[in-house]
Amino acid sequence: IQRTFSIIKPDATRRNLTGKINAKFEEAGLRIVAQKRIHLTKAQAGQFYIVHAARPFYDELCEFMASGPIIAQVLEGENAVVRNREIMGATNPKDAAAGTIRAEFAESVGENSVHGSDAPEAAAEEIAFFFAGLEIVG
Ligand code: GTP
Ligand code: MG
Repeated sequence: IQRTFSIIKPDATRRNLTGKINAKFEEAGLRIVAQKRIHLTKAQAGQFYIVHAARPFYDELCEFMASGPIIAQVLEGENAVVRNREIMGATNPKDAAAGTIRAEFAESVGENSVHGSDAPEAAAEEIAFFFAGLEIVG
Protein backbone atom coordinates (compact mmCIF):
# COMPACT_ATOMS: atom_id res chain seq x y z
CA ILE A 1 0.00 0.00 0.00
CA GLN A 2 1.36 3.38 -1.08
CA ARG A 3 0.56 7.01 -0.29
CA THR A 4 0.56 10.00 -2.59
CA PHE A 5 -0.04 13.69 -2.13
CA SER A 6 -2.90 15.48 -3.90
CA ILE A 7 -4.18 19.05 -4.14
CA ILE A 8 -7.61 20.13 -5.33
CA LYS A 9 -6.63 23.48 -6.86
CA PRO A 10 -8.33 26.91 -6.51
CA ASP A 11 -10.19 26.69 -9.84
CA ALA A 12 -11.98 23.59 -8.53
CA THR A 13 -12.75 24.83 -5.00
CA ARG A 14 -14.11 28.05 -6.61
CA ARG A 15 -16.56 25.98 -8.70
CA ASN A 16 -17.59 23.82 -5.71
CA LEU A 17 -16.18 20.63 -7.26
CA THR A 18 -14.40 19.09 -4.25
CA GLY A 19 -17.03 16.38 -3.71
CA LYS A 20 -17.10 15.37 -7.38
CA ILE A 21 -13.31 15.16 -7.48
CA ASN A 22 -13.13 13.17 -4.25
CA ALA A 23 -15.73 10.76 -5.67
CA LYS A 24 -13.36 10.09 -8.60
CA PHE A 25 -10.58 9.12 -6.19
CA GLU A 26 -12.83 6.90 -4.09
CA GLU A 27 -14.48 5.21 -7.09
CA ALA A 28 -10.97 4.35 -8.34
CA GLY A 29 -10.11 2.69 -5.03
CA LEU A 30 -7.98 5.43 -3.46
CA ARG A 31 -8.69 6.26 0.16
CA ILE A 32 -8.51 9.85 1.50
CA VAL A 33 -6.49 9.36 4.71
CA ALA A 34 -5.83 13.07 5.39
CA GLN A 35 -7.44 16.23 4.09
CA LYS A 36 -7.49 19.94 4.90
CA ARG A 37 -8.69 23.15 3.31
CA ILE A 38 -6.13 25.95 3.33
CA HIS A 39 -5.38 29.19 1.53
CA LEU A 40 -1.67 29.42 0.65
CA THR A 41 0.22 32.68 0.43
CA LYS A 42 2.05 33.25 -2.84
CA ALA A 43 5.33 32.64 -1.01
CA GLN A 44 4.11 29.28 0.31
CA ALA A 45 2.91 28.29 -3.18
CA GLY A 46 6.33 29.27 -4.51
CA GLN A 47 8.04 27.07 -1.95
CA PHE A 48 5.82 24.11 -2.79
CA TYR A 49 6.45 24.47 -6.56
CA ILE A 50 10.13 25.42 -6.17
CA VAL A 51 11.18 22.67 -8.65
CA HIS A 52 9.42 24.72 -11.34
CA ALA A 53 11.18 28.01 -10.39
CA ALA A 54 12.98 28.25 -13.74
CA ARG A 55 9.88 27.56 -15.87
CA PRO A 56 8.31 30.55 -17.68
CA PHE A 57 4.91 29.92 -16.06
CA TYR A 58 6.24 29.81 -12.47
CA ASP A 59 4.99 33.24 -11.41
CA GLU A 60 1.56 32.65 -12.95
CA LEU A 61 1.39 29.23 -11.29
CA CYS A 62 2.19 30.68 -7.84
CA GLU A 63 -0.36 33.50 -8.27
CA PHE A 64 -2.99 30.95 -9.24
CA MET A 65 -2.25 28.54 -6.39
CA ALA A 66 -2.62 31.45 -3.93
CA SER A 67 -5.79 32.80 -5.60
CA GLY A 68 -8.20 30.82 -3.44
CA PRO A 69 -8.54 27.90 -1.06
CA ILE A 70 -7.08 24.49 -1.89
CA ILE A 71 -7.73 21.04 -0.47
CA ALA A 72 -4.47 19.32 0.49
CA GLN A 73 -4.88 15.58 0.81
CA VAL A 74 -3.09 12.28 1.28
CA LEU A 75 -4.42 9.42 -0.86
CA GLU A 76 -3.67 5.81 -0.04
CA GLY A 77 -3.98 2.68 -2.15
CA GLU A 78 -2.27 0.11 -4.35
CA ASN A 79 0.29 1.90 -6.54
CA ALA A 80 -1.24 5.21 -5.43
CA VAL A 81 1.24 7.57 -7.16
CA VAL A 82 0.73 6.16 -10.65
CA ARG A 83 -2.92 5.36 -10.06
CA ASN A 84 -3.64 8.97 -9.05
CA ARG A 85 -1.83 10.33 -12.13
CA GLU A 86 -4.08 8.09 -14.27
CA ILE A 87 -7.22 9.37 -12.54
CA MET A 88 -6.04 13.00 -12.96
CA GLY A 89 -5.25 12.76 -16.67
CA ALA A 90 -2.72 14.75 -18.70
CA THR A 91 -1.57 18.21 -17.52
CA ASN A 92 -3.33 19.90 -20.44
CA PRO A 93 -7.06 19.04 -20.37
CA LYS A 94 -7.03 18.98 -24.19
CA ASP A 95 -4.76 15.92 -23.97
CA ALA A 96 -6.49 14.27 -21.00
CA ALA A 97 -8.24 10.93 -21.57
CA ALA A 98 -12.02 10.82 -21.31
CA GLY A 99 -13.30 10.24 -17.80
CA THR A 100 -10.23 11.71 -16.08
CA ILE A 101 -10.57 14.61 -13.63
CA ARG A 102 -8.79 17.05 -15.91
CA ALA A 103 -10.83 16.00 -18.97
CA GLU A 104 -14.05 16.58 -17.06
CA PHE A 105 -13.23 19.59 -14.90
CA ALA A 106 -9.98 21.42 -15.82
CA GLU A 107 -10.27 24.85 -17.42
CA SER A 108 -6.80 25.17 -18.99
CA VAL A 109 -3.22 23.85 -18.80
CA GLY A 110 -2.61 26.16 -15.83
CA GLU A 111 -5.98 25.97 -14.06
CA ASN A 112 -6.16 22.21 -14.21
CA SER A 113 -8.06 21.36 -11.01
CA VAL A 114 -5.65 18.92 -9.35
CA HIS A 115 -2.03 18.29 -8.45
CA GLY A 116 -0.60 14.83 -7.85
CA SER A 117 2.91 13.76 -6.84
CA ASP A 118 4.92 12.39 -9.77
CA ALA A 119 7.05 9.87 -7.79
CA PRO A 120 7.05 8.19 -4.36
CA GLU A 121 10.00 10.34 -3.17
CA ALA A 122 8.16 13.51 -4.19
CA ALA A 123 5.03 12.21 -2.45
CA ALA A 124 6.92 11.79 0.84
CA GLU A 125 8.33 15.33 0.63
CA GLU A 126 5.03 16.90 -0.34
CA ILE A 127 3.09 15.07 2.39
CA ALA A 128 5.63 16.29 4.97
CA PHE A 129 5.29 19.86 3.64
CA PHE A 130 1.57 19.91 4.48
CA PHE A 131 0.87 17.31 7.18
CA ALA A 132 2.15 16.17 10.56
CA GLY A 133 2.22 12.41 11.08
CA LEU A 134 -0.67 12.55 13.56
CA GLU A 135 -2.94 14.14 10.94
CA ILE A 136 -2.75 11.11 8.64
CA VAL A 137 -5.19 8.39 9.65
CA GLY A 138 -5.06 5.28 7.46
P1 GTP B 1 1.05 18.91 -11.05
O1 GTP B 1 0.41 17.66 -10.57
O2 GTP B 1 0.29 20.15 -10.65
O3 GTP B 1 2.52 18.97 -10.70
O4 GTP B 1 0.89 18.85 -12.63
P2 GTP B 1 1.73 18.00 -13.67
O5 GTP B 1 2.73 17.14 -12.99
O6 GTP B 1 0.75 17.34 -14.59
O7 GTP B 1 2.46 19.14 -14.50
P3 GTP B 1 3.87 19.88 -14.21
O8 GTP B 1 4.49 19.35 -12.97
O9 GTP B 1 4.65 19.82 -15.48
O10 GTP B 1 3.40 21.39 -13.99
C1 GTP B 1 2.95 21.82 -12.73
C2 GTP B 1 1.77 22.72 -12.92
O11 GTP B 1 2.18 23.91 -13.56
C3 GTP B 1 0.65 22.19 -13.83
O12 GTP B 1 -0.25 21.33 -13.19
C4 GTP B 1 -0.03 23.47 -14.24
O13 GTP B 1 -0.91 23.95 -13.21
C5 GTP B 1 1.13 24.42 -14.35
N1 GTP B 1 1.59 24.48 -15.75
C6 GTP B 1 2.23 23.54 -16.46
N2 GTP B 1 2.47 23.95 -17.72
C7 GTP B 1 1.94 25.20 -17.81
C8 GTP B 1 1.85 26.18 -18.85
O14 GTP B 1 2.31 25.98 -19.98
N3 GTP B 1 1.23 27.35 -18.52
C9 GTP B 1 0.71 27.61 -17.29
N4 GTP B 1 0.12 28.77 -17.03
N5 GTP B 1 0.78 26.72 -16.30
C10 GTP B 1 1.37 25.54 -16.54
MG1 MG C 1 4.09 17.85 -11.51
